[in-house]
Amino acid sequence: MKHTDISEILKNKDLIGAKATVCGWVRTFRESSSVCFLELADGTSFTKLQVVVDKSKMTLDAECTRLGASVAATGEIVKAFKGDGAEINAETVTLLGKCPPEYPIQKKRTTLEFLRGIPHLRLRTNTFNAVFKVRSVAAQAVHRYFHERGYYYINTPIVTASDCEGAGEMFRVTTAPWNAKAASEEEYFFGRRAGLSVSGQLEGEVAAMAFSKIYTFGPSFRAEKSNTTRHLSEFWHIEPEVAFAELPDIIEIAEDMIKYLIRAVLEECPEEMTFFDSFMEKGLKDKLNHVLNSDFAVCDYTEAIEILKKAKADFRFPVEWGADLQTEHEKYLTEQVFRKPVFVTNYPKQIKSFYMKQNPDGKTVAATDLLVPGIGEIIGCSEREADYDKLVAAMKERGMNLGSYSQYLDLRRFGSVPHSGFGLGFERFVMYVTGMENIRDVTLFPRWVGNVM
Ligand code: 4AD
Ligand code: MG
Repeated sequence: MKHTDISEILKNKDLIGAKATVCGWVRTFRESSSVCFLELADGTSFTKLQVVVDKSKMTLDAECTRLGASVAATGEIVKAFKGDGAEINAETVTLLGKCPPEYPIQKKRTTLEFLRGIPHLRLRTNTFNAVFKVRSVAAQAVHRYFHERGYYYINTPIVTASDCEGAGEMFRVTTAPWNAKAASEEEYFFGRRAGLSVSGQLEGEVAAMAFSKIYTFGPSFRAEKSNTTRHLSEFWHIEPEVAFAELPDIIEIAEDMIKYLIRAVLEECPEEMTFFDSFMEKGLKDKLNHVLNSDFAVCDYTEAIEILKKAKADFRFPVEWGADLQTEHEKYLTEQVFRKPVFVTNYPKQIKSFYMKQNPDGKTVAATDLLVPGIGEIIGCSEREADYDKLVAAMKERGMNLGSYSQYLDLRRFGSVPHSGFGLGFERFVMYVTGMENIRDVTLFPRWVGNVM
């Protein structure tokens, strides 16, 4: 259908006086004795377009006035009565699809929890329009950031035989019948066990050992039974891998990238960010501007443990050197102590993955997590162990099957170099910049333990 996006009508002043057709869904309907007002949304802009119908010139089909109905309206674009936008004086309004009164999205404010039950319709609300605009702008900015800096964008396999994180959280891939209790060896389509990738890192390292600077941006899968507001079974993962980079270098890149993404969202989504600031997290824009104008903190894990031990807080999980930081600890550090993003560095080796570079102290690894207020960890990062013997020793300690990782080990045999990388959980980033509190509300169709559709 020939028509003009509502965003175009609202922003392009040159169109005033022109005739146009707009299409969209009815968001509100009001009438006085002489005029009707239809507010239309087509999703291309956060602001809706007002369509004015002069009752003396035309009669509006009652079906066109129902909330959720889809219509096409044609008429002259005029300067809005209020504000500096535009509206349409309709000459015709045609019904495209009617919408009966049981349409679940009604005008009264509905809760996010209610909307989670109708993921196929919730996108038509202001909140979800704004979330997905920000998500889209941030995704474009990720590609721009790396492209401008000469990184290769690579696509790592989704079905893989290697378990990157080694935490037993892989979904398996088999051709076993849907009703089978367990997969037998014959049902391994690839002749060996395969699963859905938890991270593209291992393959990313392969590419970085040839192209120096690469990144991946794709889905990762985790079969962890974490029923929380920050875990999904399927999430989008941004993973740069950089050759000749040591831990401080990759920390610099991570901070620079996060700031770049925040700047892009603030610049390209002004209306949406104002909405989030008003309705989701008061002071959100100030918070993000503060982040842009300050250095992220860096804190050694050992120092973080000291801080937490002295904290006057009632933690559910004990604080002890050698134990992983729980969300409550992460939030305390970043919200109460540093009040900005903080890189916690040099974790004990036994709580981190096999591939991380072992520090000279023999106890810790050159790894860092970036923690942010409101969420906790959004980035997992490390320098990789580049020494063949040390890597083999770490794998043996964990009882790993070296045969499955022979290519990965080869990278340490043939021209090994220091290199580092990180993984940013894209949904967690979107939560951070929008103030949305549940990861299920920044994902089209969230999957978590017990839930898929
Ligand atoms: O800390 P993780 O497990 O690190 C890795 O997978 C590394 N191989 C990344 C790398 O160095 N290339 O995951 C990285 C990030 C986390 O910090 C978090 O933001 C996100 O991925 N993440 C999840 N997001 C949503 N739901 C889950 N279940 C997540 N698990 C990890
Ligand atoms: Mg992690």
